[in-house]
Amino acid sequence: VVALPNIQPDRLQYTKTEKPRTPPPSKSLVFGHTFTDHMLTIPWSSLEGWGAPKIEPYGPLSLEPSSTVLHYAQTIFEGMKAYRDEHGNVTLFRPDMNMKRMNTSAARVALPTFDSDALLQLIKKLIHFERDWIPKEPGHSLYIRPTMIGTQKFIGIAPPSEALLFVICSPVGPYYPDGFKPIALYGTTEYIRAAPGGTGAYKLGVNYAPGVMPQKHAAQLGYTQNLWLHGPEHYLTEVGTMNLFVVLKKGDAIELVTPPLDGMILPGVTRDSVLSLARNHVSGNYKLPNLPNLIVSERPITMNEVQEAETSGNLVELFGSGTAAIITPVNRIGYLGKDIHIPTGEDGMGPVSRPIWTELVGRQMGSIPSEWSVPV
Ligand code: COI
Repeated sequence: VVALPNIQPDRLQYTKTEKPRTPPPSKSLVFGHTFTDHMLTIPWSSLEGWGAPKIEPYGPLSLEPSSTVLHYAQTIFEGMKAYRDEHGNVTLFRPDMNMKRMNTSAARVALPTFDSDALLQLIKKLIHFERDWIPKEPGHSLYIRPTMIGTQKFIGIAPPSEALLFVICSPVGPYYPDGFKPIALYGTTEYIRAAPGGTGAYKLGVNYAPGVMPQKHAAQLGYTQNLWLHGPEHYLTEVGTMNLFVVLKKGDAIELVTPPLDGMILPGVTRDSVLSLARNHVSGNYKLPNLPNLIVSERPITMNEVQEAETSGNLVELFGSGTAAIITPVNRIGYLGKDIHIPTGEDGMGPVSRPIWTELVGRQMGSIPSEWSVPV
């Protein structure tokens, strides 16, 4: 058996746009609406493996209406960011984790897997090509969206024999329209995002479309996003756009709780980074300044526990984490017709999220050197 070619960075072909645009001022950016001049595309077929990669002008794809992606949602994606430090150095944050997760997602929906290092090399080439689009302002970055779709013309249900991997880039600021201010969540008991044995732990397009209508409902009630709950106990899971952390007072200590990766929760890169920073602080490996006596728990937590913590004055803060969301404080959760009010500190950040945010963003932007920051 002859192995089919994997992704081959040395076959990259460039076509430069004839109509280069000037990146808009960072202040005017609305998350996810602006795209850079070029994109990366790599075709795949079951007969020929991965074909020649191209960096070409950003523009429409040509797809058959019978393409599997359009019928059965054979689509996966990733979210990563490229940052520019004060010296002009461009970096990615833990991109190996995105490549690994994208392969896991591909395998879950029978799309082809690929050589992570080869794709990362090509993504770096694309970012280098588009480096003038990376905003310089704090809190801003170039959002990178690797995507893979099934393109075979076929309306039966099977692993597609053709696929397309593409990567587009979007200069961004804050994800939520109110900037970096605290947001309100709606603890929905009417709909679910994921179930045991389902696809909640993978970054699939199919996990997101069914959340749009509930989100619209939440917005009508005055909340920014849905908080997805699980089971009759109403276990907190995640938000869809971010993972969740709850901070509780426990005697003299403070407990940082996040729901465990139980197959229903997306294994977020920022989630992992927050946990790692907090655990290193606890073990004394790497102390974060001004962080209280901390207990770090990956454990199930119910809405009842959050409600009781509010009543007893033990609810310290609650925040979301994500590539797009970075660290987003939450000041209110609507639940069973009432609002749970959550304390927020100055700028929304609390005693745990503040030092973690400082450390995380420092490592992302390159002001705090770390192995997580990978040069482009
Ligand atoms: C990200 O945080 O990068 C995500 O992919 C969430 C997204 C749905 C905006």
